[in-house]
Amino acid sequence: MAEIATLILEIIKCVAPPTRSCVDNHRKFKENVEDLKNKLRILEGRKEDVETRLQDEVCSEKQAKNEVVLWLQDVKKVNAEIQDVLKRVHSASYFSRARLGKLAREKIDVLDAILQRGNFPEGLVVNKPATTLPIPVEDLEGEDTVKEEILGYLKGNEVPMIGVCGIGGVGKTTIMKHIHNELLLMESRFDNVIWVTVSYPLNVVRLQHEIAKRMNESFPENEDEQSWASRLMQIMGKVKSVLILDDVWHRFTLKDVGIPSPTKENGCKIVITSRKVDVCQFLGCEIVKVSPLSEEESLNLFLDRVGRDILQNQELGEILKLMVKECAGLPLAIVVIAGSMIGVTNVHQWRHALNELRERLRAIAEGSEDQIFERLKFSYDRLQDSNTQNCFLSCSLYAADYQIRKENLVEQWIDEGLVEELGSRRAMLDKGWTILNKLENSCLLEKGHSEALIKMHDVVRDMALRINPQFMVKARMGLTEIPDEHEWTENLEKVSLMQNEISDIPLNMCPNCPILTTLMLQWNSKLTQISDCFFANMQGLKCLNLSGTSIESLPHSICNLENLTTLLLRHCRQLKHVPCLAKLQALKKLDMLKAGIDVVPEGIDILVNLQYLDLRSLQLVELPTQILGNLSHLQHLTVYSKSTTSKIKGEEVRGLKKLETFQAQLYDLQDLNNYVKSNHFKRLSNYWLAVGQVEEGFDPFINNFSKGISLGECEIGGEDSVVLPDDVQELWIYRCRKFRSLSDIYSLQKTTELKFCSITGCEEIGCVVDMVTSSSSFINNLGGLWLYKLPNLSVVVNVEGVEATSPHIFSNLKFFGMWECSRMKGLFSLELLQGLQNLEAITVWNCQQMEEIIGWEGEEENHTADATTTTTFTLPKLRQLNLQNLPELKRICPTRGVMVCDSLQQLQIEECPKLRRIPLVGNVRPSPPAALKRISIKPKELWESLEWEDPNAKNVLQPSVHFPTY
Ligand SMILES: *[C@@H]1O[C@H](CO)[C@@H](O)[C@H](O)[C@H]1NC(C)=O
Ligand SMILES: *[C@@H]1O[C@H](CO)[C@@H](O)[C@H](O)[C@H]1NC(C)=O
Ligand SMILES: *[C@@H]1O[C@H](CO)[C@@H](O)[C@H](O)[C@H]1NC(C)=O
Ligand SMILES: *[C@@H]1O[C@H](CO)[C@@H](O)[C@H](O)[C@H]1NC(C)=O
Repeated sequence: MAEIATLILEIIKCVAPPTRSCVDNHRKFKENVEDLKNKLRILEGRKEDVETRLQDEVCSEKQAKNEVVLWLQDVKKVNAEIQDVLKRVHSASYFSRARLGKLAREKIDVLDAILQRGNFPEGLVVNKPATTLPIPVEDLEGEDTVKEEILGYLKGNEVPMIGVCGIGGVGKTTIMKHIHNELLLMESRFDNVIWVTVSYPLNVVRLQHEIAKRMNESFPENEDEQSWASRLMQIMGKVKSVLILDDVWHRFTLKDVGIPSPTKENGCKIVITSRKVDVCQFLGCEIVKVSPLSEEESLNLFLDRVGRDILQNQELGEILKLMVKECAGLPLAIVVIAGSMIGVTNVHQWRHALNELRERLRAIAEGSEDQIFERLKFSYDRLQDSNTQNCFLSCSLYAADYQIRKENLVEQWIDEGLVEELGSRRAMLDKGWTILNKLENSCLLEKGHSEALIKMHDVVRDMALRINPQFMVKARMGLTEIPDEHEWTENLEKVSLMQNEISDIPLNMCPNCPILTTLMLQWNSKLTQISDCFFANMQGLKCLNLSGTSIESLPHSICNLENLTTLLLRHCRQLKHVPCLAKLQALKKLDMLKAGIDVVPEGIDILVNLQYLDLRSLQLVELPTQILGNLSHLQHLTVYSKSTTSKIKGEEVRGLKKLETFQAQLYDLQDLNNYVKSNHFKRLSNYWLAVGQVEEGFDPFINNFSKGISLGECEIGGEDSVVLPDDVQELWIYRCRKFRSLSDIYSLQKTTELKFCSITGCEEIGCVVDMVTSSSSFINNLGGLWLYKLPNLSVVVNVEGVEATSPHIFSNLKFFGMWECSRMKGLFSLELLQGLQNLEAITVWNCQQMEEIIGWEGEEENHTADATTTTTFTLPKLRQLNLQNLPELKRICPTRGVMVCDSLQQLQIEECPKLRRIPLVGNVRPSPPAALKRISIKPKELWESLEWEDPNAKNVLQPSVHFPTY
């Protein structure tokens, strides 16, 4: 019946407008839909690129630009709309096609527009507004007089430019960071405090862009340095700013960059830090010399690191003081040398170290740059273990002042073969992290801007590069061309050209670097081709990183790299052609995450040393069977493609005795069941196994998944229909038509570690857990529950007729979300409430019949019965309550009840026209929750009609309310 009605409607709609365009649209229908699909793919690609780049670039000092954030939101929205159109296309009748064709055309225009907006030539991130952001910095030891002197000049009118000079490691940058942070507190003196790290070499264009970014400005791409300079001059002329240029090495003129000369009149100031006095003099700076620390200050700093207890042993104390003397008052040397002595309590060891340090310094002229190197090198040598030393040196492959992600660094050491082979990946990762800790504790590496990051002091990095002159490091220097062939000398061991703008490697370029082991070219995102013979004379190459380049094919010379152990091709989205890899017999790791290939590279099946294989490429069509048979060393195997056609047979994997991480699409339920029954999963430390279609909300391309199963369009429910691993932690159920309740999955009842469950698009499910037929113990550890598009769901937990329910149901639940469950009338019954004490967030959107959130007693109950007593409910940890588009919602909790939720921070009430009473109170009743900081109300009028327990609540909360207009 309904279909006929729609058909008639379609006819009316289609016939009413001029018929000709109807026919036209028909003809174009296919074209349009294809076009739409293609464009959508491009858009998805671009979105992923943007997201990946953001992951790499966002840190505590940089944030995504607003336009980027907005764009990503729009992409999501448009994507959903188009998916919807495509679904309808799938089941379209003849008549509706015409209209859909037109709709498709419209959507194409929308896509074009959004694609256009998706170019971010000026980059994706901006520095977080300087005005709000102090730079994290260690405490300042001594140097107070210098600091006050500089601050004095900055506050006064006489000295516009200050040059802070001193040898590397004396603490110039640290002093300036403290000054920077203090200037931020003195809001009235300057409009703007701008910090730019210049480093070596001076790149005027970069400098211009950095300064502009700090001023919230960007330059048009198509102009040149000079016009940028005049733009900058204008922008900067308008504000009273302090410009701090840290670590300047070369002379330059302000005018060339576009920096107005600071004068008494414009009130601007410039501070430059440099190891070179002549650079500061050239610019006309007042020189402030940073002198080394006094003996007392040095001793304090040293003791801060090694601990004061050491002085209790008098003999040791004496040696220590002599050692401090050898540090010549250089904070960096003190910190690093002290770092190498942490935990040493033996007098002989101390005396030996002292002698050694003196011995080294004797040969070097007092006060020369070499002395600091020698002091730092002393600490490096004390690492003793050559693996740890090599790991340290390898950090210098990153750009100066770069915040390195710890995780990547550890992985890189393994990839470079710097962590000894230990039989399992987990053991090697543990070893890598241990080395990292050691380097951090010894102060050879410094804390980064967040827990996940680490960095190398520029002077330490100089030292590392000096220890190993066989490195060529030109990372993030804005290179547009690859260094000339003559720079590729025969003795090079490692080359890093990462994060440049190199666009191609000329045809005839075949550098002769027979002992080169590591070559990093990642994120030269403009690199489209590599000359055919480029790798021909790099026989020793072990680790090659081409991630994030735009190459379309790998040159043939790669086939002969018989010593290559690591080949990284992540995010090589354009990559289509990979030659036969059969000769790369040493290969241990092949990473093609999100590469563009659609077939598995030839020859993989005989790379018997492979330990790590990531084939989660975007377009992979099919995975040949039997490919895994000889790869018995595999520890990490991840295979996926967007088309979900590259499946693996569970039984092929059972032979892989060393596997630790496994992600794949299996053939079918039977295949999954057999695999699980084989108990192979028990050796895995993480897995993610999917059968059938995967839910759109899940991102299979992430690396830290736990133990998850995804079931799409499967027949589950009933005796043994699906066998789940007993340690499963995440369960995703997607469009399983006959699925009725988690309680129907027998194997699930035996699990105890389920932490997350998402159920989407299952037509028949009536309740999530059915206490009538099963116990609820398997959900006791559940931390997150998402329910989406379940048209028949009427209760979350069915307790009908059950005598006593367990107070532990959902006792670990933190996040609950429900969308488009149109039969739900009440969310949680009173019985469930006692278990929900850990709940932190509730989201309920688009549920047409939802009447009540907490305390639902079924429809028969008379809600006004006990209207005279006030019942109190508590959700002590609730931080977020989001209610959107619930046309029937009348109550948050029963009529006279109040809900105590003192932790509530965020409240959203949008399009809930029948809701009047907001029974939410904090611990101090009847005041609203004290933490409530963000309230979103739509439409605006609703705010007026809401009634709070506290008559004064609206006044109190007014500043936190906003009214979205989307
Ligand atoms: C830059 O923009 C941010 C937020 O958009 C603002 O807080 C900051 O004050 C702006 N800074 C300058 C220098 O205009
Ligand atoms: C290779 O490059 C990728 C992308 O930047 C990075 O995540 C990874 O750590 C690099 N690995 C090595 C060994 O250089
Ligand atoms: C590469 O490996 C071969 C044999 O596998 C070995 O003879 C050769 O010395 C290695 N080359 C380098 C430069 O390490
Ligand atoms: C795999 O191993 C088997 C037995 O060891 C061998 O016969 C077969 O040739 C190997 N396959 C490949 C592709 O190397």
